[in-house]
Amino acid sequence: MKTKKTKVKATRSLYDLKSAITELKQKFDAESKTDIENLQNRYLGKKGLINDLMKGLKDVPKEMRPVAGQLLNELKANLEHQLTLLGNGATEETADKIDLTIPGLKPKVGHMHPISQAMEEITHIFEKIGFTRVRYPEVDWDYYVFESLNMPPNHPARDEWETFFVDVPKHKQMGKMVLTTHTTNGQVREMERLKSKPPIRMINIGRCYRRQQDVTHTQMFHQFDGLVIDRGIHIQHLKGTLDYFAEQFYGPGTKSRIRPFHFKFTEPSFEVDFSCHICHGTGKKGRGKCKFCKSGWHEVGGAGMVHPNVLKAGGIDPDEYTGFAFGWGVERTYTLKEGLNIDDIRLIYSGDLKFLEQF
Ligand code: DAH
Repeated sequence: MKTKKTKVKATRSLYDLKSAITELKQKFDAESKTDIENLQNRYLGKKGLINDLMKGLKDVPKEMRPVAGQLLNELKANLEHQLTLLGNGATEETADKIDLTIPGLKPKVGHMHPISQAMEEITHIFEKIGFTRVRYPEVDWDYYVFESLNMPPNHPARDEWETFFVDVPKHKQMGKMVLTTHTTNGQVREMERLKSKPPIRMINIGRCYRRQQDVTHTQMFHQFDGLVIDRGIHIQHLKGTLDYFAEQFYGPGTKSRIRPFHFKFTEPSFEVDFSCHICHGTGKKGRGKCKFCKSGWHEVGGAGMVHPNVLKAGGIDPDEYTGFAFGWGVERTYTLKEGLNIDDIRLIYSGDLKFLEQF
């Protein structure tokens, strides 16, 4: 009988304790919204409410005490945890849930150098009409840079290419070693790679070097060279390709213009201009002149029909095949497109992030 009574009493006590805990939690929740400062003392302090409940443990029958003690410890830990959260300005809700609507923190990522971006774009434009991108050595033999391109040793035309010579012994047939001055060095190499068998449609983009350094020149720069060789290739194919590039790179309506010029590796040779995409080739802006081009056109590079001697150097019969070629600088092509009046082109390679992050 005694046992039974105790059991009933014990169940009631545990029940009472649980409802006391629930009540205390509700009280705590309500107060935590208004009176954060004193919560620590009132609930967890020596004379706090939790200790009061702890003291009541002695009324709980022995066999139930471990459970009752555990409940109170959990309560204590829980309130301590909530107080820490409140101290950090968080609530139980915000701490336990991930709010997917909060804008994320963007990691700082870099991007490709503007000239690399331009090279990718140029490659893509020519690949669409069947050109294959190739790369040839930056450090090359005189033969590929000059001699095979119809510029024999000591020819005055070589003077234009202010060449860096590499201090290594001369090769018997290939001559001196140089830092290539133009991507035209890839033309005879490409004919050799394809075993002198047209059709050839290459776009060679790479680094070039010249002994020049001022606000419009850097010693290292980039060029791209196009070469097409097949039966029946004529100037209209060249002009069509230039117009295609102009529209693709600078936008619809941009036109190309070719003017007679002289290169040793093409005959006839031309200089290539593109119509200004700001004034659309008129040279006028409002009542005045277009400040960007002044004449309606921008000169960008050279082109022409491949000289028979160059075809011969590549093992191709000039009586059977003809070809056109063109080439110019990536930096100039790109800065024209962006309408960048960069007063010092060396900035592009200065590694200055403030400048580069604009692109
Ligand atoms: N290599 C010339 C230069 O650096 C540009 C050039 C002109 C390339 C005519 C060509 C070409 O392929 O046909 O100025």
